[in-house]
Amino acid sequence: MFKHLHMTIAVISIALFTLRFIWLLLGSENLNKKWVKIAPHIIDTLLLLLGVVMAVKLAINPFEQLWLAEKIMGIIAYIFTGYYTLKLARNNMFRVIGYLGALGWFLLVVRIAMTKQTVFF
Ligand code: HEM
Repeated sequence: MFKHLHMTIAVISIALFTLRFIWLLLGSENLNKKWVKIAPHIIDTLLLLLGVVMAVKLAINPFEQLWLAEKIMGIIAYIFTGYYTLKLARNNMFRVIGYLGALGWFLLVVRIAMTKQTVFF
């Protein structure tokens, strides 16, 4: 049950990030709505919390199971490139580059989650 919730929230997270990215490119007022500012924090916190709860329940230690360590590093990179895309990027060209970078990290995280194999380590 935890796993399905975790996966559903992961899909909502990338969908909401994509929506905010598109709204940013279009200069949409929707970005100023209160729920748009609050929801991503709640969703991403839930996603991380559920992941940690599962890792503890299944006794998966990232220092022993390198796939989890690599997954966590991929998530940190996803969060940073996502922040860059929505907040730091100077213009739409950099925003598109940032978005593609964040998407790449997200896909790497999903791949690691599904195969439980490291890609870089
Ligand atoms: C962007 C963030 C994340 C994404 C996209 C993501 C994605 C996924 C997916 C798709 C699965 C299901 C894999 C399967 O089919 O078995 C999964 C399972 C899991 N995830 Fe995540 N996850 C994220 C964050 C985290 C975090 C932060 C942790 C823990 C620190 C974590 C720990 C786990 C664990 C322990 C499982 C279950 C593995 C098992 O069944 O043995 N995840 N994740």
